[in-house]
Amino acid sequence: MLDKLKEIEKTALESLASVRDQSALDNWRVGNLGRSSALMSVFSELGKLSKEERPVVGQAANRVKIALESALAQRAEAVRAAALAKSLEEEQLDVTLPGRAIQHGRLHPSTQQLRHVLTILAEMGFQVYSSREVETDEMNFQLLNFPPHHPAREMQDSFYVQAGERGDNPILLRTHTSPGQIRAMREFASAQPQHPPPIRIALPGMCFRYEQITARSEIQFNQVEGLVVGEEITFADLKGTLSDFARRMFGQTVRTRFRASYFPFTEPSAEMDVECFVCGGRGCPVCKLSGWLEILGCGMVHPVVLQNGGYNPRRYSGYAFGMGPERQLMLRYRIDDIRYFWGNDLRFLEQF
Ligand code: DAH
Repeated sequence: MLDKLKEIEKTALESLASVRDQSALDNWRVGNLGRSSALMSVFSELGKLSKEERPVVGQAANRVKIALESALAQRAEAVRAAALAKSLEEEQLDVTLPGRAIQHGRLHPSTQQLRHVLTILAEMGFQVYSSREVETDEMNFQLLNFPPHHPAREMQDSFYVQAGERGDNPILLRTHTSPGQIRAMREFASAQPQHPPPIRIALPGMCFRYEQITARSEIQFNQVEGLVVGEEITFADLKGTLSDFARRMFGQTVRTRFRASYFPFTEPSAEMDVECFVCGGRGCPVCKLSGWLEILGCGMVHPVVLQNGGYNPRRYSGYAFGMGPERQLMLRYRIDDIRYFWGNDLRFLEQF
C-alpha cells in the first residue's frame, strides 16, 4: 500500500510538471485529487486494512494528499503568472499615447456674446427683461412713434405673420427689441399707475427682418436693448453709462464718440462709435479708414413713448439704446460674412 502511494505521488507530480494552462490544471485536479482518483480510492480502502496498517497508511495517504494539494497550488500560481506575462506581452498597451479627446459642447458664439453683454450690464445694475419675439404692429412700431406708413419703417422690412383682417395692426416677428420697452414700462407702471417705479433693464433676444440674405444682412439676428427711466435722467447719464459700458467691453482706454442720428422713439438720438480696436484709430479696412466703429444706437426716450408706456413725460425721462452681439463679434474677430452665424458649419462654430 505504501509503495502504491509513492507511485501515485510520483506519477501525479510528474504529470503536473507538464500542465501549462487552466483547463489542464482542472483536469489534473479531478484526475489526481477527485473522488474517483487513485489516491481517494486508497482512503476508501483504509477500512479493509488491519488495525496496525491503518494509521500508517492513513498518515501516508494524508501526507501525499497535502503534498499534491500544495503542488497544485504552486502550479496554479505559476500558470496564472505565465498567463498574465503572456497577455502583457501580447496586448501591450502604450500608456504614453495621448487619450481620446472628450468632445465638449459649448454655447453658440452669439449666445456667448449676448451673455457677455448682459454680464457687463448686470454689473452696472441692469436687470434682464425677456420680451416676446412675435409682436403686433402696434407694439413693434406704432407705440414707438412709427405711425403706419412712416418712412423709418422701411429700414425694418418685416415678416408679417397675420395681416388682412387685422387692418393696421398685423402680427409680425419683431424687427428689433425696442417693443420690449413698451411692454416693460406698462408692466412696471401697472404696479403703481400713479407713481410708476424707476426702470433699469436690458432686453436681449432674436429679431427678424425680411432681408435679402447677403454677407452683410441676415433675416435673423440678436439685439440687446437697454432702457432706463426715472426722474431727472439726462443725456449725461446716457453718455456716462454707455461710455463706461464701452470701456468694460472693449478696454479701459477705449475712446468713444456720439454722433447725432435719428430714431422715431428717441429724441435726441445718437449713435455711439468706439475707437477702432483693430487699428487703434489710425484707419484700416475694418473701420473703413475712419478710425471708428459704430456699435449702438441710443437716445433719450421720446415723450410719446414714455406716455405710451404709462410714464408721464412731464415727470419722467429716460434713455434707451440698442446693440447687436453678432455685429460686435464680426468687428472683434473680423468675420466678413454674417451668414456664418446661422450656417451651422462646425468649422466656424468650433472656433469660439
Ligand atoms: N431699435 C433700433 C434698431 O433696431 C436700435 C435702437 C436705436 C434701439 C436707438 C434703441 C435706441 O433703444 O435708443 O435699429
